[in-house]
Amino acid sequence: MNLLNIKDLNKNFKQENENQLEVLKNINLKIKEKEFISFIGPSGCGKSTLLNILAGLIPASSGQVMLKNKLIQNPGNDRVMVFQEAALFPWLTVIENVLFGLKIKNIDKKKAYQKALDQLEAVQLKNFKDSYPHQLSGGMKQRVAIARALVIDPEILLMDEPFGALDEQTRLMLHHQLIKLWQDTEKTIVFVTHNIREAVKLSDRIIVFGSNPGRIVEEFKIDIPQPRDRENPTLVRIENKILKLLEKEIKKQGENTYEKIAT
Ligand SMILES: Nc1ncnc2c1ncn2[C@@H]1O[C@H](COP(=O)(O)OP(=O)(O)OP(=O)(O)O)[C@@H](O)[C@H]1O
Ligand SMILES: [Mg+2]
Repeated sequence: MNLLNIKDLNKNFKQENENQLEVLKNINLKIKEKEFISFIGPSGCGKSTLLNILAGLIPASSGQVMLKNKLIQNPGNDRVMVFQEAALFPWLTVIENVLFGLKIKNIDKKKAYQKALDQLEAVQLKNFKDSYPHQLSGGMKQRVAIARALVIDPEILLMDEPFGALDEQTRLMLHHQLIKLWQDTEKTIVFVTHNIREAVKLSDRIIVFGSNPGRIVEEFKIDIPQPRDRENPTLVRIENKILKLLEKEIKKQGENTYEKIAT
């Protein structure tokens, strides 16, 4: 079943010179329930903007996004965002940070604490519940951020380059944990990344964006069960295809810049 339906979506931003910057153009995309979908594309093509629109943080200029039969106009507990920088509250302990996500929900204190603890266990951080963010590594902070998002039990997890700032080993470990969480909780995940290998390893479907204006160039369905072997020839082939597409898009972007300078 379709969970999200993005229809004829356009987004412009007003620039300082009063001109409109066309950021997203004519985006049409349906996202299924329990799907793990990734957005990949050149820097500035509007991936974060689209995620922010899905989160209800900013409005579309035209077109619409439906969540089931409801128009997305505001943020809601059914969607939670995880950013590249974990953005934890430094003055709160790990468990207090996770509990913060539950404050907006009206549940019993004891129940909330147990929920937060269970969620920390799911990201293997139960033993660090009383630590402060500055006492954690980057990967651990990111896991707290994921626990804080999941404790609200949203239908959709929106992740904007969540592992972008991490080293390769930590990233691999978190891939493993995220896939397990995704399988256990059956969430729908919309994942933005610059890392093609990461997208290919994690996603059911990858949407490749081009820029100026941001638009969908191609999509790839990946029908290989998890956990995936990174040497799988189908995955390697898709990875190479996406790389070629992105190289073409980036080259086009470069030419556009050149034309603008030349005229
Ligand atoms: N609030 C805003 N006001 C004006 N312009 C904006 C705003 N937010 C984003 N933009 C512009 O919209 C374009 C797309 O930005 P966005 O952050 O969505 O790109 P992105 O694909 O996420 O890039 P990256 O991969 O570098 O994170 C950029 O040209 C950016 O300058
Ligand atoms: Mg971005």
